[in-house]
Amino acid sequence: MRIDNPKIVAALPELGVELRSGCALAELTSLGIGGTTDLLRIKKHEGIPDLLDLLDAHGVPHRFIGGGSNLLVGDGELPWVVLQLAKPEPEVVIDGTFAQVDAAADLGRTVTFCAKNDLGGMEGLIGVPGTVGGALRMNAGAYGMQIGSYVREVKLYRAAGRKIEILKGDQISFEYRHTSFAPDDMMLAVKLELPSKPFKEILAGIRICNEKRRSSQPLGQKSAGCIFKNPPGASAGRMIDELGLKGLNVGDARISDRHANFFVNAGSASAKDMLTLIADVRERVHKAFDVELEHEVVVWNA
Ligand code: EPU
Repeated sequence: MRIDNPKIVAALPELGVELRSGCALAELTSLGIGGTTDLLRIKKHEGIPDLLDLLDAHGVPHRFIGGGSNLLVGDGELPWVVLQLAKPEPEVVIDGTFAQVDAAADLGRTVTFCAKNDLGGMEGLIGVPGTVGGALRMNAGAYGMQIGSYVREVKLYRAAGRKIEILKGDQISFEYRHTSFAPDDMMLAVKLELPSKPFKEILAGIRICNEKRRSSQPLGQKSAGCIFKNPPGASAGRMIDELGLKGLNVGDARISDRHANFFVNAGSASAKDMLTLIADVRERVHKAFDVELEHEVVVWNA
């Protein structure tokens, strides 16, 4: 979708918004899949309510993207524009055992920056691609930890109230890969409270998690992490593996040989290829195990 209304284009600079015309979302997602649309890069949080009022007044549909690492975007010209926060300087400010982090901050860089300040707890998230905002919205977790445990405050734009609000940690529920945020809430910043630990100890934990991840996940390939959530008490990856489906492909969309819940883009897969593969695997798992796998990856298919 293109923003060609001169009234919108003229209003953007004052709102701290940069318009990038005709962006290929394949370049903004870790899967390397996704069609084309206009991208609005937001440089100041305060301009967001007016920006969204402006887009709504002119009937311009929009979606928010974080780091694009857990996202499968449809092919072709997309029927909405995409909003993304620009990275501020600095991304993280430490105050005692608190870390004030911008939602656009890179998750891995945040984990290491906190570690260098003797703040641990997030070792498991090392190697998870994406932004802190995306991790927060999905309650990203690995190796027995989840980011929600450390959240004390969240600054967000709430589409329901059309304004920026601050929520306390205990006003938000964090479950397995799920939070109580509304789908159109936009994460802006988070205050984390992290356990104090010597840097060396945190680094040792980071190394262990890195090693585990490297040995079990296809890190060098284009993927969106795990495609399906684990059903209660079971592992989606193990079930797909037991069915002998590693290597199964639709075009360049392929089930990783290393981890069966990672579906990789082995070249120039389309969203259609990936969605066909996902549907096929869901059906096979359902037939074999009588389990309906739920998507963990967020799908934006028009
Ligand atoms: N397994 C297989 N074959 C496979 C993959 C896994 O037999 O192809 C077996 C493993 O041997 C293990 C069990 O299944 O016994 C669980 O596998 P793993 O430890 O790799 O964990 P997972 O349940 O597949 C979850 C998260 C990952 C997270 C890891 C580490 C989900 C859907 N996945 O994977 O998160 O990194 O644990 O904590 O919750 C993600 O969210 O995108 C993600 C990758």
